[in-house]
Amino acid sequence: MPVECVVGAQWGDEGKGKIIDLLSRDADYVVRFQGGNNAGHTIRVGNDQIVLHLVPSGILHPTTRCVVGNGVVVDPEVFFEEIDFLNQGGVSTEGRLFLSDRAHLIFPFHREIDRIMESDRGVRSIGTTKRGIGPAYADKAKRWGVRLGDLYDEDMFAATLRMHLDEKNALLEKLPDAQTFKFEELYERFLGYAKRLAPYACDSVAVIHEAARSGARVLLEGAQGALLDLDFGTYPFVTSSNTFTGGAITGTGLPPKALDRVIGVTKAYTTRVGEGPFPTEELGEVGERIQVAGNEFGATTGRPRRCGWLDAVAIRYAVAVGGLDALALTKLDVLSGFQEIKVAVAYQRGEERLSWYPSVIDTHKGFEPVYQTFPGWSEKIDAVTKFEDLPPNAVGYISFLEETIGVKISIVSVGPERDQVIFR
Ligand code: GDP
Ligand code: IMO
Ligand code: MG
Repeated sequence: MPVECVVGAQWGDEGKGKIIDLLSRDADYVVRFQGGNNAGHTIRVGNDQIVLHLVPSGILHPTTRCVVGNGVVVDPEVFFEEIDFLNQGGVSTEGRLFLSDRAHLIFPFHREIDRIMESDRGVRSIGTTKRGIGPAYADKAKRWGVRLGDLYDEDMFAATLRMHLDEKNALLEKLPDAQTFKFEELYERFLGYAKRLAPYACDSVAVIHEAARSGARVLLEGAQGALLDLDFGTYPFVTSSNTFTGGAITGTGLPPKALDRVIGVTKAYTTRVGEGPFPTEELGEVGERIQVAGNEFGATTGRPRRCGWLDAVAIRYAVAVGGLDALALTKLDVLSGFQEIKVAVAYQRGEERLSWYPSVIDTHKGFEPVYQTFPGWSEKIDAVTKFEDLPPNAVGYISFLEETIGVKISIVSVGPERDQVIFR
C-alpha cells in the first residue's frame, strides 16, 4: 500500500467486496468514500455469505479499522442493522468502526421521494434501488442536507427538519399513494439515532490524514462503478455520486497525490442492474446462460442483472478516467464451458468507428459492438491458484484483455471464496 483505492470499472457488482476483503488483510484502515446502502458488497467465508451495504468490506479482519467517509450518505437504520448483524455473528465493531460527522443522513422522506419519482419518471426511469440515495444527495447539493454532526445541535436540527417537512410534505400530499411525515415523530427518532451514533462519530478527515501521515496502510473502497458515476457514467442512468477515483478524493479529504495505486475491478463479462445503455447486452440464450452460471441477481434488491460480453471500450475509458494502475478480473470461472467468448473492442455505425465511450446516450444509437471472438475452455477453473495452471485459452483471453485495455490484470478471481484467487 500505503494508500490504495479500489473502484468498480463497469456498472457495479464487479466483485469489489471480495477483492477489498482480500486486500484488507494487509490494511490498517478501510474507508468507504461514497454511495450509501444502494451498494451490496458480498464476502464469502466458508459457508457464510455476508452482504455489506454501508460498513466497509474490511470489517471481517479483526485488527482493521473501518471508516465510513464524508462522501457517503447514511441511513442510520441500515447502519444499526448492519452493526447488529455483524455483532451477532461475532464480528466486533466497537472501537474500530467510525462514521464521518460530515456524512449526510438519509431520512424516510428521501426513500419515499425516491420511490415516487421512480414511478413517475417515464422514459427517464432509472430503476434505482429506492433507498433514497438520489434525494439525499440532491439535498446535499442544495445545501439543505443534515449531516451526522448537525444532529448534535438540536435547535438547528429542529429548524432544518421543519424546513424539510414543509417542502417534502407539500410535494407528497399532492400524490395519491404517497406517505407524509410528522415532525415530532422524526425529530425524536433522529435524536435517538444521534445518541446511538455518537460512539462512531468522528472527524473522518482528521482520522484518515493522521492514519496516512503515520504510514498506516489505507484502503479506499468505492461503491457502484465507473459507468454509474454521476459525471462520467451513462447519465442520466447513473447513481447520484462520483463513484470513481475522483470520489475517493472528495469522499475522504485525501489529496489526489496521496493515492499510490488505483485498482479497478471488472468481471470477465458485463452485467448491469436497472435501466440505461448496455452496448454488449445479450438478450437471448447467451445472456441467460451467463446470468444462471454467474448467479447474477442483485445483492441489494434481488433484481436479475442484465448480462453480456465484456466491453473493452468501456473498460479502456474507465482506465483513462480513473487512472487505473491495475485490474482485478473476477468471475472468470463463470465463462468455463462457453465454446466461444467475445469481447467488444470498438463500436461501429456504417463507416464510423468509435473506440472511446460516448458522452451522450443518444450517440449510442445505431452503433453496434465490434467483437473479437476467442475459443473458450471446458475445464472448471475454480480450484486454480497459479496463473500458469489456467487453461491456455483462458490465459490467451487474459493476455488479449491486457493488450487491448492497456493495463495489467494483477488479480484473477475464480470463485466467490477467499482462496479462489490468483495473485500475479
Ligand atoms: P460488489 O458490489 O462489486 O461487491 O459485487 P456483488 O457482491 O454485488 O456481486 C458479486 C457477486 O459475485 C457476489 O455474489 C460474489 O460472492 C460473487 N463473486 C465474486 N467473485 C467471484 C468469482 O470470481 N467467481 C464467482 N463465481 N463469483 C464471484
Ligand atoms: P455496488 O456497490 C449495481 C444502480 C441502480 C440504478 C442506478 C441508480 O453493489 O456495485 P440509486 O439507487 O443509486 O439511485 O440507483 O444505479 N446501482 C447499482 N448497480 N451495483 C451497485 O452498487 C449499485 N448501486 C446503484 O440499479 O440503475
Ligand atoms: Mg453489489
